[in-house]
Amino acid sequence: MPPVAKTSAQRPVTAAQVCADFNDVRAVMHYTKAAHDLGLWASERLMLERILPPPPAANFPILEAGCGAGRISVALHSLGYQNLTGFDFAGELVEQAVSLATARSAAITFHHADATKLGQHPAFASASFAAALFLFNGLMQIPLRRNRRRALRQIAAVCQPGAPLLFTTHDRDHSPLERASWRLEARRWAEGKQDPRLREFGDRRFEDHCGDTFMHLPDRAEILADLAASGWTHVEDHLRRELTKESRPVREFSDECRFWVAARAS
Ligand SMILES: C[S@@+](CC[C@H](N)C(=O)[O-])C[C@H]1O[C@@H](n2cnc3c(N)ncnc32)[C@H](O)[C@@H]1O
Repeated sequence: MPPVAKTSAQRPVTAAQVCADFNDVRAVMHYTKAAHDLGLWASERLMLERILPPPPAANFPILEAGCGAGRISVALHSLGYQNLTGFDFAGELVEQAVSLATARSAAITFHHADATKLGQHPAFASASFAAALFLFNGLMQIPLRRNRRRALRQIAAVCQPGAPLLFTTHDRDHSPLERASWRLEARRWAEGKQDPRLREFGDRRFEDHCGDTFMHLPDRAEILADLAASGWTHVEDHLRRELTKESRPVREFSDECRFWVAARAS
């Protein structure tokens, strides 16, 4: 019997699909609105204050990976930070980031670039950042663990030794409900009955008002191993709820997450 072609609803999710999802008008509107109206979450601000020197920090170049429509970089600029570079692989979002920075007279450099291929981008050939950010789970939206490690290595390569990296993940096991749902999911994987679009245990694909979203939900041991394998030393990690209580608009925009700080190994 000839092989049966898989429909797009069954094909394993790829980076190109994730990029297309972020370029979808629903996602672009969602992240652009957040960049314009929401700004930094209280927990983000607290963690950024821990790892960055006080503004203007003109000699302290900061890299924002997965900058989306510029929510973090533009907010950092409004706090007085002067040396900011952001990049994202979703061109539509980069355009929104540039447009917001222009409207706010914020001198921020934005690039259209893929975190897993930073070394191939001429703008990063001689880069040496003093800190890197990959906030609101962008790193976990890269399909396949080997690609997430590649992105971590590529970011390490453009950072100075000792530079902090701040990023977030969604824990797989932060609540009893999550733990129960992942036990069921483990059974589906053991029986080969998982969603055919998923590549690794911990992957999730869902549809909401922003369109389709891919996300890998790691456990803590996985991230610790990934950091150690990609040129980073773990410094600290905290669930958001341990840091501060977020406002209702922030809680509506984003679920519980874990903040990670690592330092580029020398
Ligand atoms: C959840 S959004 C967060 C956007 C923005 N940082 C914010 O907080 O509003 C994750 C971002 O990561 C970007 N991203 C995912 N994989 C990427 C990759 N391989 N290279 C660059 N950007 C990537 C997406 O395009 C998206 O803009």
